[in-house]
Amino acid sequence: MTSVFHSYITGCGMSVPDQVVTNDDLSKSLDTTDTWIVERTGIRARRRAGPSDTVASLGTVASQRALEDAHVLARDIDAIILATTSPDHFMPATATKIQANLGAQQAFAFDLQAVCSGFVYALSVADQFIRSGHSKTVLVIGADLMSRMVDWTDRSTCVLFGDGAGAVVLQSTNERGAGILSTHLFSDGTAYDKLYSDVEAETPQHRGKIIMNGRSVYVRAIEVMAASVRTALEQQHLSVKDLDWMVAHQANKRIIDAVAHDLGLPEDKAICIIDSYANTSAATIPMALAVASHDGRIQKGNLIALTAMGAGFTWGSALARW
Ligand code: ACO
Repeated sequence: MTSVFHSYITGCGMSVPDQVVTNDDLSKSLDTTDTWIVERTGIRARRRAGPSDTVASLGTVASQRALEDAHVLARDIDAIILATTSPDHFMPATATKIQANLGAQQAFAFDLQAVCSGFVYALSVADQFIRSGHSKTVLVIGADLMSRMVDWTDRSTCVLFGDGAGAVVLQSTNERGAGILSTHLFSDGTAYDKLYSDVEAETPQHRGKIIMNGRSVYVRAIEVMAASVRTALEQQHLSVKDLDWMVAHQANKRIIDAVAHDLGLPEDKAICIIDSYANTSAATIPMALAVASHDGRIQKGNLIALTAMGAGFTWGSALARW
């Protein structure tokens, strides 16, 4: 029997550290320029965590803002899923710290790791909980402190990343054609070595830091993000012309523009916040949703495609009727 439940996003929130690091700031200690970074990536600035910022602290504030936006109380949350690659501790799950901070005693909480695709993965898992009738209200968070993971002496990676958190409240509805229409997840572990954290590095300052084959990531990201949006549209018997917005993972403006071009979607229908915040990994999509739903671009009834690709490689898409 087909479930009558669907999930829909009822609130969004975001939180970033106060410290703004511009490209000019980076060029003081690195052999790089604002012009190079803007032309290759569209990034002008990123936020960097201060000593008191943690994934849990930013994730908590983003969640509180999303709950307020949704008019939902913390005690009514059934589940908390945090997508992160930079948890505050290897154990326990950072999601449990957020649960405690929020006072969401009725919820169960866990972390999910799919790197830059983490939010789309977490949204899909949350959607399954709601479709099955298991949960009614799920808090889905993407939060990463990428400043913990980059080698600040490697100009080819460190300029790309930033710190931040975004959250959405997902609730059940039985309204037909509303909310999350479908989600689609993929991975290809043969690309494991294209982007990884080097835990075996000999020198302590390089241990655990990001190693990336930028060109491979760039080419694959365009191909698979466009393909996964097409898969979602085909499954729902919709076309690119039906889309009001695409919210793609914010890795590089050139990648976002190329995905839009590949799909035949006008570039101005692709929400882009990368200039101010850079790549915050699992946080980019919920942050973009928070920005664009609060500035009035995303309106009720809009059809939105979410798509992301990250290390692994992992990738996926979701279609949502706002
Ligand atoms: N400033 C100045 N020069 C630089 C910098 C920098 N910050 N970084 C690299 N360069 C140099 C390189 O050393 C190279 O010099 P060389 O030709 O003398 O060897 C030159 O610039 C060109 O480098 P390319 O790698 O060819 O530049 P490209 O146009 O491919 O852009 C970039 C590089 C921006 C990394 C691009 O490949 C990219 O965006 N890849 C995707 C990576 C990504 O987004 N990763 C995020 C995680 S995965 C995800 O989120 C999907």
